[in-house]
Amino acid sequence: MKKMLQELREVSVNAILQAQDAEALESLRVKYLGKKGELTKILKQMGKLSAEERPAMGQLANQVRAELEEAIDTRRKALSDLMMERRLKAETLDVTMPGEHNEIGHKHPMYVVLDEIKEIFIGMGFEILEGPEIEKADYNFTKLNTDEGHPAREWSDTFYLTEDSSILLRTQTSPIQVRAMETKPLPIRMVAPGRVYRKDEVDATHSPMFHQIEGMVIDKGVTMADLKGTLNTVVKKLYGEDTVTRFRPHHFPFTEPSCEMDVQCHKCGGKGCPTCKGEGWIEILGAGMVHPKVLEGCGIDTNVYSGWAFGMGLERLAMRRFKISDLRLIFENDVRFLQQF
Ligand code: DAH
Repeated sequence: MKKMLQELREVSVNAILQAQDAEALESLRVKYLGKKGELTKILKQMGKLSAEERPAMGQLANQVRAELEEAIDTRRKALSDLMMERRLKAETLDVTMPGEHNEIGHKHPMYVVLDEIKEIFIGMGFEILEGPEIEKADYNFTKLNTDEGHPAREWSDTFYLTEDSSILLRTQTSPIQVRAMETKPLPIRMVAPGRVYRKDEVDATHSPMFHQIEGMVIDKGVTMADLKGTLNTVVKKLYGEDTVTRFRPHHFPFTEPSCEMDVQCHKCGGKGCPTCKGEGWIEILGAGMVHPKVLEGCGIDTNVYSGWAFGMGLERLAMRRFKISDLRLIFENDVRFLQQF
């Protein structure tokens, strides 16, 4: 029996110290020390021993049990250290590796220009307004002194949404002027960017959808000189201090007097070239003093208040700013084009 115990000790301690993981170790513990384990099997034979032999054998058996338990403990600790080491190795983070680079894109060139213009006007105390793209003909035309029968209201130029011509896709951002005058307390200083729609064929300078920025000031004692001063300041901030401008008389139904503002051609410096179609100047906006009929239609006392307004095409500004030759490039969203800005 002594030999059996010694053999058990040798074989089991070896096996325990070589167990590869916690599970294997546990099954070895059951195999050797469990209720039906090898040690128990040997102890069951104690009955066969004489009374003198028993104490020594009992002592040896206890010793073997203690050694096995100790071996199991030792191996358990070693295994857990090993696991930790493996995990640390697997989860190692090299903080010197270059980070992952995500392309997040950037602003569209037209929005670069729009944001600059907004910033300039905000700096001068203007607020930014919006209006609906689906608009009443009343706001798009009638309240802007453009009565029924006016050529601008033709079905051939305008996307009407109802048979009776009362609802349409706005052809200009000017109706936002009326919406502002009807709802805002005076004085008003506003700019309003947005999409507008016209039945134009697509070519290098036309698109059935494009963007405008409307601007308007209503206050006491506002004059044409304020209009010129403000617009000159904005254009110089946008295109540079040495930009040369001029104002030409024009006609719009909702302003009196009306004008258009030109900037001297950046390509030829005013001599005349293909970019400015030989003119030496490029038109950038329409403007004027808000027509008394429009003011009165919005309930504004023209004895006390006057105002000026302008509307400019955003694509055209962006094209000049970034020397883009074809309007279609702005809408096609070809990344090879967009990446250049
Ligand atoms: N709405 C005009 C257009 O689309 C531009 C314009 C001209 C707007 C004069 C104005 C203005 O506010 O005063 O051609």
